[in-house]
This record gives sequence, C-alpha cells and structure tokens, in this order.
Amino acid sequence: MTQKTVKDYIRSIYDFPHEGIIFRDVTTLFADARGFRMAIDQLLTPYAGERIDKVVGLEARGFILGGAVAHQLSTGFVPIRKKGKLPGTVISEAYELEYGEAVMEIHDDSLQPGERVLIVDDLLATGGTAEAGIKLCRRLGAEVIGCAFVIDLPELGGGKRLAAMGMPVHILCEFE
Ligand code: PRP
Ligand code: HPA
Repeated sequence: MTQKTVKDYIRSIYDFPHEGIIFRDVTTLFADARGFRMAIDQLLTPYAGERIDKVVGLEARGFILGGAVAHQLSTGFVPIRKKGKLPGTVISEAYELEYGEAVMEIHDDSLQPGERVLIVDDLLATGGTAEAGIKLCRRLGAEVIGCAFVIDLPELGGGKRLAAMGMPVHILCEFE
C-alpha cells in the first residue's frame, strides 16, 4: 500500500457553509498524529537553512499550524486576528469578501523592523486574507519571506494574486 499524503487526511464536506460549496476540512488532518507531523514538516521544507525570526499565523486554523511551525523553528509566534479580538494597540487592513468587507489586525509592537517572517495558514482561496496579512507585516517593517499553506484552491486566484505582490508561496496540495 502506498504511503498516505497530506491531502489524503483532509476531509471534504459538501454544502458547507452554503449549498454548492465543498468545504476542505483540515480538522481530520490535525487530529491524526502522522498527518499533522507530516504537514508541519512539509510546510517547513523550502525554508531549511533560511533565517526566520517570527512565524505569523492567520486566524483561525493558521494559529494551529503556525504555532507548531514556530515551535519546530524555535521562533516566536504572532497572531493576525479578525477585527476586535486583539487586546493591545493594533493596526488594521480591510479586505474584500464575496459579500462585504472584513478586517484583519496585528498588535503594532509584535514585529520589529527588519525581522524576517513566515506567514502560515491552512488554505489559500482568493488570497484576500493573506494579502491583508502581508500588508500588515510590511507596515510594521518586517520582511515577509514567504507564505505557506496546506491547501490551494487555484481556481480562486490567490496564488496569482500573491505572485503579483512578489510573494513566494509554498503549498502542500490543491483542490478544485
Ligand atoms: C479561511 C481560511 C483562510 C481564508 C482563505 O478562513 O482559513 O484564512 O479563509 O480565504 P481567502 O484566500 O479567500 O482570503 P475564514 O475566513 O473562513 O476564517 P476562520 O479561519 O476564522 O474560520
Ligand atoms: N475550507 C476552509 N476554508 C475555506 C474554504 C474551505 O474549503 N474555502 C474558503 N475558505
């Protein structure tokens, strides 16, 4: 039998959160010791030998992955959260959703100018969330050396959007 891949651990749930949407659910990947370890190891593969000062995770599943990646690298971890969740002084970036707008925030003292950061999240769709995250890090003077995702949905264009910002993207698997 061939070895399971990261993609094999991801569950697809039909008609969530709306009819016609197939939700790619990483909780089944996180719950499996072998799958979770494989995902964290593979997220880090391209950055071997690179200096990374901080790992930044995007709410919410990016916290689980980013925390484990930061532990593996022995770096600090910084959360980027939805509006109104962080207790300290923040800077904000709005981004467009299918209907309306959302806002992501970061503590204004969480990254130092010149720090090299890796952004981690579970999934790249339109790229709006990641673009807001990159802008927040850059506004604090940090250098985003890359963005690492478990899943890319290439039809939604996030990869091209981040490429247009000059951002190297690392993904572990794709779904239609
Ligand atoms: C999902 C996913 C990414 C984002 C990707 O999070 O975990 O963070 O959407 O979409 P985009 O590339 O089109 O911006 P969601 O906004 O559902 O938030 P949650 O993790 O807090 O549920
Ligand atoms: N899974 C998780 N987050 C998402 C998805 C998905 O399939 N699509 C857009 N955001």
